[in-house]
Amino acid sequence: RKKVTMQTIKSLYKKGEPIVMLTAHDFPSSHVAEAAGVDMVLVGDSLGMVAMGLENTTEMVMEEMILHCRSVARGAKSSFIVGDLPMGSYEVSSEQAVQSSIRLVKEGHVHAVKIEGGEELGPTIKRITQAGIPVVGHIGLTPQRQNALGGFRVQGKSCNSALQLLRDAMVMQEAGVFMLVLEAMPEEVATLITSKLKVPTIGIGAGNGCSGQVLVQIDMTGNWEPGRFVPKFVKKYADVWGEATRGITQYRDEVKSRAFPSKEFTYPIPKEELAEFEK
Ligand code: KIV
Ligand code: NA
Repeated sequence: RKKVTMQTIKSLYKKGEPIVMLTAHDFPSSHVAEAAGVDMVLVGDSLGMVAMGLENTTEMVMEEMILHCRSVARGAKSSFIVGDLPMGSYEVSSEQAVQSSIRLVKEGHVHAVKIEGGEELGPTIKRITQAGIPVVGHIGLTPQRQNALGGFRVQGKSCNSALQLLRDAMVMQEAGVFMLVLEAMPEEVATLITSKLKVPTIGIGAGNGCSGQVLVQIDMTGNWEPGRFVPKFVKKYADVWGEATRGITQYRDEVKSRAFPSKEFTYPIPKEELAEFEK
């Protein structure tokens, strides 16, 4: 297919066609996302939890993000790839944020960076976009700030906090974001924000009024042990864990019983050679 660019995203938005974004964290997960036809691939720092086993995303560092971004970029050659700026890589100063963004592009091979926060990021977003790097904002539930938010909690449930989210969105748009991720907020709030903006919104747990949607691939493909906590907004579209467990259990049983490898999976040797060899 044709390469998805900023122009493609803009034209989808203009047409009112929902933009499909999905996370990926390595070569196979990005390859399958692209093969299935998603428009945008997000290398979210949630990979620290779903692919590295961390408790939360606050431990993620640039080097880890770069490593994963590089692998994703190799698997999704025609997708538009966005990489998360990890906690600690942009808050200190605009200069730090620009430097980190440049690294994600040059070393991680992403096309745009995503930054969590609110209106306070205005000057930072402006500086990154001035460096020629497209920026996606991320407001609402911002997992890197979970300690300040009191955990993974739905945002914008009061009129005041909803209005603050709208202010954050407007300031970030003014500063130059080309897209805004809205995470974990009532549908009405996300829909209102979307209607006020001139750039697309991508919702996750934000209802059906956004310009597009994003989910974490490991969550939506059901690649997790039954019983693990998943947020309300996760729809399980597949059962990768179940299928992998079935296959691996059968493999284990067949190795134990010597049913595997059967002749079908074994290299033959010509009879004459064997006779010679066995002498
Ligand atoms: O890290 C991530 O996967 C994200 C999405 C959930 C938006 O930031
Ligand atoms: Na993230």
